[in-house]
Amino acid sequence: MQHLIFFNTKGGSGKSTLCEYSAMELQRLGHNVSVENTDQQQHVTLIQNDAADFCLYDTAGAFTHENVKLLRAARDANSLIIVPMNTGKNDLKELPFLVSKLVEYQVREKTRFVFTKTRTKGRILESRRETLVAAGLGLLTLIWVMPVLDDFTEMRQSARTRNVISTFLKEVLK
Ligand SMILES: Nc1ncnc2c1ncn2[C@@H]1O[C@H](COP(=O)(O)OP(=O)(O)O)[C@@H](O)[C@H]1O
Ligand SMILES: [Mg+2]
Repeated sequence: MQHLIFFNTKGGSGKSTLCEYSAMELQRLGHNVSVENTDQQQHVTLIQNDAADFCLYDTAGAFTHENVKLLRAARDANSLIIVPMNTGKNDLKELPFLVSKLVEYQVREKTRFVFTKTRTKGRILESRRETLVAAGLGLLTLIWVMPVLDDFTEMRQSARTRNVISTFLKEVLK
């Protein structure tokens, strides 16, 4: 089973959207997918011995006790932590703290930063990528960028959205 944990301390970064669309796409591909929400459930830990091929976790986006347990458990499991990040200035503020925690929980290598709701090409994106490289911790950032899409907001499944999400999954699972 592959665990995918969508995490960032910043709200509105696209965790829930990316999680939900990824679940739909994996299901469309025929996988058995389970989605857990640490926002709603009190006791989420990594799920074991389940029939699911993929277990996706949408998180409340804070270092709650449950989220910390989840992140710590990720270290020894077949798991990836996806950190969706907007490119606004405010989105960088909590980055050093977030990264220090990922290092503390020994899941830095399992973490993939993803820029969301942004233009694929452009100065800001380049400068954000450089910031992550400059942190000097070997942080991994996906080439894939989640574009601004109207139908993401409306939870429709257009061909374009499916293509975009499918490209994300291919890169993250390769
Ligand atoms: N790629 C996107 N394009 C346009 N709107 C988006 C996109 N991703 C998310 N949104 C919208 O941005 C808001 C925040 O996204 P959400 O997934 O709820 O973030 P989080 O779970 O990190 O708080 C929602 O209203 C969502 O519909
Ligand atoms: Mg959310």
